[in-house]
Amino acid sequence: MTQPPLATRPLTVLGIESSCDDTAAAVVRHAPPAAPEILSNLVWGQSALHAEFGGIVPEIAARAHAEKLDLAVEGALAQAGLGLEALDAIAVTAGPGLIGGVLSGVMLAKGLCAATRLPLVGVNHLAGHALTPRLTDAVGFPYLMLLVSGGHCQFLIVGGPDAYSRLGGSIDDAPGEAFDKTAKILGLTQPGGPSVEREAATGDPARFDLPLPLLDRQDCNMSFSGLKTAVLRARDALVAEHGGLRVRDRADLCASFQAAVAAVLAAKAQRALAVYLRREPDAPVFAVAGGVAANQAVRAALRAAAVQHGARFLAPPLALCTDNAAMIAWAGIERFRLGARDDMGLSARPRWPLDTRATPLLGSGRKGAKA
Ligand code: KG4
Ligand code: ZN
Repeated sequence: MTQPPLATRPLTVLGIESSCDDTAAAVVRHAPPAAPEILSNLVWGQSALHAEFGGIVPEIAARAHAEKLDLAVEGALAQAGLGLEALDAIAVTAGPGLIGGVLSGVMLAKGLCAATRLPLVGVNHLAGHALTPRLTDAVGFPYLMLLVSGGHCQFLIVGGPDAYSRLGGSIDDAPGEAFDKTAKILGLTQPGGPSVEREAATGDPARFDLPLPLLDRQDCNMSFSGLKTAVLRARDALVAEHGGLRVRDRADLCASFQAAVAAVLAAKAQRALAVYLRREPDAPVFAVAGGVAANQAVRAALRAAAVQHGARFLAPPLALCTDNAAMIAWAGIERFRLGARDDMGLSARPRWPLDTRATPLLGSGRKGAKA
């Protein structure tokens, strides 16, 4: 029996994600020309396990993934109403990330593929994020993408499922990390992004003149660690002056910090858009992914940058912006259609840059190595 061509063949793929602190499994089906369908998308966070340590403990994360992954896969298949025999392939995050967690996922995927003889497709976690606008909005290549989360911060031109050109990124902290550290400094709850945004809503963004690092440089690189130090100094000065942090001062500091992050991201987005548009895309698109893209001030600043350059702005729904396995299943489908297959030699990689020609960025984030 002849199979339809790989490019248009209906495919149902299981995705497995365990590179950070979310244990996730999902099933995605794509039967062109219909839009891809997320049949199930299960994400089990581990925040409670790490809460008392003030950060992610890699060993605890790895153990929790190892305990929960097979249940997550079972759950995702049950929610999709499918058995393993209905799948065409299994896609798994093979890096970058916390190595113990990545290994748990890769081992499980290999075991399932060995038992079922299904093809195995290793996926770069960052490619999962970067290809999400094609899952949600069917955008064509090339598009400009900003990955902005607790562990990632980079501008990429996405030219194909395996073709990335990195224009720049953070040389130290990721913005989500800066939000989380700012929240800690100001005594707000974690994750810091939402609590800082809540406080900022009643604050004055112009009150504190915080640094906007690297804006004087013409490239697309960013730095956020100085911003957090500036927040610490401002807090100490306020505490020394008033004997404590007043509610008003805290709100103003949050608003000023948030405005500074948004300003840096927007200014660098302008530069990235200019580079991208010089490559003459037919229908320019600027897309964002990552938890920080949930921030309304950041989103508005990025949208304005896109509009100014005549590009369509896309922010996937939050559940698909943050870590999930539907994006891994989808990236698996895209790579499978290109003929990508892995075997039992697939290794787990703590570092794995999408653009191997770009100079490595400095730093290793709170959520593991940055690529
Ligand atoms: O994408 P994500 O779930 O995980 C990774 O880091 O990979 O992003 C989580 C990060 C956290 O640092 C969190 O504080 C930040 O995204 N975040 C936000 C907001 N919601 C989540 N930052 C700013 N504003 C928000 N509303
Ligand atoms: Zn991620």
